[in-house]
Amino acid sequence: MLKQSISIFIGVVITVGTVLVAGEKSISPEELGIRKHSVFTEDTTLPEAKYPETPPGTGKKLSRAYPTAPPQIPHSIKDFLPITAKQNACLNCHMPEVAKGMGATPIPPSHFKRRFSKTGKPVYKIAGSNYYCVSCHVPQANVKPPIENVFGKK
Ligand code: HEC
Ligand code: HEC
Repeated sequence: MLKQSISIFIGVVITVGTVLVAGEKSISPEELGIRKHSVFTEDTTLPEAKYPETPPGTGKKLSRAYPTAPPQIPHSIKDFLPITAKQNACLNCHMPEVAKGMGATPIPPSHFKRRFSKTGKPVYKIAGSNYYCVSCHVPQANVKPPIENVFGKK
């Protein structure tokens, strides 16, 4: 009896499922992508981003998208790249001990790893994973998004 009810139940589920799937309308190539035209003929060149050309000290900081988001860079970084193992110009202004004098936001404690020198005295260094600043911080750019971002607006 129980076995019979189970198989009837499964039968009903399969039948209803098939009807639902068959009734669903197909999706055209124009509806597949974020930009509403065919994904097969889509223009894949990226929109050109216009980054700030103004030097530090003249930019306008943007509010964060959400509390733990890396802030965008409000100034030109042309003269500060490339960042190499021996040279990181960002540190010249953003290290906490100099930032205030430079009018720059100090690098937050989360970017530092506590290490100890041979003498046992603690030294503070940027953590390796936080050394290459531009892997997380990008210069501001007024790029028109293909669809509106409503994150945080609802
Ligand atoms: C010559 C000093 C200087 C250098 C070098 C510099 N910055 Fe800045 N930075 C500033 C100042 C000053 C500000 C404050 C906004 C402004 O005035 O443009 C700032 C703002 C920022 C902000 C925004 C912080 C916030 O609170 O929103 C980020 C992120 C940033 N810089 C990252 C970088 C990175 C990454 C580099 C290296 C590629 C760099 N900066 C190099 C001086 C500098
Ligand atoms: C792995 C990603 C990552 C890298 C690499 C990184 N940051 Fe950040 N940064 C963040 C995030 C996430 C935040 C916001 C959360 C926080 O404050 O820790 C932030 C915050 C900041 C702030 C704002 C602090 C405040 O008090 O508002 C500054 C300035 C900054 N970073 C500078 C730098 C500089 C300079 C470098 C390179 C030496 C760097 N960051 C490398 C992810 C990163």
